[in-house]
Amino acid sequence: MRVEPAVRLEGHFAVPGDKSISHRALLLGAVSDGDTVVRGFGRSGDTASTLAAVRALGVEVDDDGDQLTVHGVGLRGLQPASVDCGNAGTLARLVVGLLAFQEGSFTLTGDESLSARPMERVAEPLRRMGAQIETTDGHLPLTITGGPLEAIDYELPMASAQVKSAILLAGLGANGRTTVVEPAPTRDHTELMLQDAGARVSVRSGSVSVDPPERLHLGSVDVPGDFSSAAPFIVAATLIPESRITIHDVSLNPRRTGLLDVLERMGGRVGILQRRRIGAEQVGDLEVRAAELTATTIHSSEVPLLVDELPLFALLASQARGESWVYGAGELRHKETDRIEAVVDALRAVGGRIKAHEEGFSVTGVPTRPKGGKVDARGDHRIAMLGAVAGLASREGVEVQGADTVAISFPGFFDLLEEVTHR
Ligand code: S3P
Repeated sequence: MRVEPAVRLEGHFAVPGDKSISHRALLLGAVSDGDTVVRGFGRSGDTASTLAAVRALGVEVDDDGDQLTVHGVGLRGLQPASVDCGNAGTLARLVVGLLAFQEGSFTLTGDESLSARPMERVAEPLRRMGAQIETTDGHLPLTITGGPLEAIDYELPMASAQVKSAILLAGLGANGRTTVVEPAPTRDHTELMLQDAGARVSVRSGSVSVDPPERLHLGSVDVPGDFSSAAPFIVAATLIPESRITIHDVSLNPRRTGLLDVLERMGGRVGILQRRRIGAEQVGDLEVRAAELTATTIHSSEVPLLVDELPLFALLASQARGESWVYGAGELRHKETDRIEAVVDALRAVGGRIKAHEEGFSVTGVPTRPKGGKVDARGDHRIAMLGAVAGLASREGVEVQGADTVAISFPGFFDLLEEVTHR
């Protein structure tokens, strides 16, 4: 797919429902008592994997286009099955937590990229709780035989919402209170939704605990727009002069919007309108205008708050005056690709000056449009989106190889981009 330079971005629009919340609504709806109605479900390759997974586990889900109705089977009602997780890391990590206390044996598989991502990070703490789990050299395919679990106090070795969530979900079926201590705050959608479903969740600074409930009852979930899907538009409108866009009904969960704080430091112009709550989550409209940027530094404690937006940050930094740094982002090496290498290759390919470091990268910004070139998405949706935004901001356009991979999180991405782009 070739993306030509833009003159400006303009318009009012919304992005699909949040992927993290959509996965969780299906998984927690599945183990709830009664029906859960999910409105605004974010349809994508990844969430389709979760929909197929809960169905494979014996849960009926009605899909009438606008909303899904999950007919919950109760906390321990999932049926033994082999589950194909596709490309979805969130599904693979979270579902293991629920399977750890079901009756019977389960197998999890995934595509080539997911099968290269680490699974011991969830298997190891769940084994400590009493689950029987075998990985394939630390990866998928994985087999798990559920049974009675003991609660644990677990200090996460890395800041990962997926690992935290897997342990909390296993804690739903454990004997006693399960506590997870995190090295830095990560996204808290699991905790918020568990509270909504009636579980006793205690959040303290640096840790979160869950008591095993008798039952869960979620009832309904209204999914706000995905901040990570809004991010490419925020970055494009910031970089392309004369742009002005408004993105409606975006999730503004503070554990997800680190990019806004970073942009503010850099001189970005993003206004938040109509801030409100939908259920447990914060939502608002974002008004973004073009801006001139200065460099900034991101430290490890901030990384989880924009972990999926760091590729786009690299592009922002390449257009900002001065040298920008990202520290403590080694987790990027365990995403759909090694995202440190992938970002460095992509940005260099369009003319950016960037260096890889073991746990991050540094970028020397030049406030003129990047030249353009060819970006290989490497099967990673966030790299494809980085290439597309670089194309709009460039002088000569960008050829994005493997652009179809955007469908993993946002199938209509290129159509919406075209709609709001003026050339
Ligand atoms: C996610 C957590 C993050 C993020 C991923 C979605 C989630 O992964 O990168 O896209 O929904 O919990 P880690 O928890 O492994 O950092």
